[in-house]
Amino acid sequence: MATLLTDHEITERVLGHIANRTTDVGDEVWREPVENYRSPERLKKEIECVMRRSFAAFCPSAALPETGSYVARDAAGRSIVAVRGQDGIVRAFHNVCRHRGMRIANDSGCTRAFVCPYHGWTYELDGRLRHLPHTEGFPNLDKDRHGMVAVEAVERQGLIFVAQTAGANPIQVADGQDLIQPEQKLYSVSMRETNANWKVVLEGFLEGYHIRATHPESFFAYGFDNLNVVERFGNHSRVTFPFRRIQKLAAVPPQERRVMGYVTFVYHLFPNALITVLSNHTNLLVLEPQGVDRTNVVAYSVTNKSGDPADALEAAQRDVAFTDIGAAEDRAIVSAIQRGMASDVNECFTFGRYESAIVHFHRTLDAALEREADR
Ligand code: FES
Ligand SMILES: [Fe+2]
Repeated sequence: MATLLTDHEITERVLGHIANRTTDVGDEVWREPVENYRSPERLKKEIECVMRRSFAAFCPSAALPETGSYVARDAAGRSIVAVRGQDGIVRAFHNVCRHRGMRIANDSGCTRAFVCPYHGWTYELDGRLRHLPHTEGFPNLDKDRHGMVAVEAVERQGLIFVAQTAGANPIQVADGQDLIQPEQKLYSVSMRETNANWKVVLEGFLEGYHIRATHPESFFAYGFDNLNVVERFGNHSRVTFPFRRIQKLAAVPPQERRVMGYVTFVYHLFPNALITVLSNHTNLLVLEPQGVDRTNVVAYSVTNKSGDPADALEAAQRDVAFTDIGAAEDRAIVSAIQRGMASDVNECFTFGRYESAIVHFHRTLDAALEREADR
């Protein structure tokens, strides 16, 4: 698997672009049919054939800090619960009781066992059915065949990945350090519905060509218009958005250059997750389609700073006050794009050479759908 550029290499590339008034460019223009954003059949395939069959980022490891910590939420249209077991290993299950189908766990927390809220069937952290009240009502029930049904879960680089279908392609992550490191602490989990197709929401994060027009007083005040480093690794990508203050690094010896605080990194983890690394906090954003024109954005936020937790939290909140303005500007854009699709004006959306991370996404998504169609 590819390695990502080092801090020094990122700095060199960005300083070069500033000097030459250039940016990274891809090798092709992509035309994506608008019908692919409007078609319920297409969305069904994306959910069933791609999201459920890929190792999709589910939550950060930081959301499951100890034995019994669990996170329950809908992923690709199904309720899934991930839990850290007695042995420290994270497992994931369909969050559905084997008695009469009730949802077993809600939201997140820490527990010694899962107790179904309907009649109290009780499951171990490894999914085995431990106990049911008034067992005599269920003569001959084979407990071993009534455990919670597992899905594949893997913990890698500070994240939990879940694949709902056996035989999913192996996870591809870049070599090197964790995307979220053990000392980064979870401080917020939120969910917000956005009135746009999940791919429109995703595309808004993956290019810097819109910075001046969309964010004149927020991001553009500190950053650049259309000046990005774009890297692809496996199915994924990373887009670097430098701040103007990165020019100070020109005076720092190459091996001492650290870009944290001088750039925002946006990682796209195929198919439907983003990691945004800001100066003082990092978000894992998971895009969960609710319909062709509605997406739940689940956000897990972790601090960046180690050391005093109160300081780290205060620094993270300072970041958020800044990024919230830009995020609201992006949400207004994506929902307006979605409304515009009713007008039948565009047969295709055209992604130019500045939007190459989006081109990589569409190419990868088409290939994944084709592969599944051939199965
Ligand atoms: S549905 Fe879960 S115990 Fe009855
Ligand atoms: Fe934006």
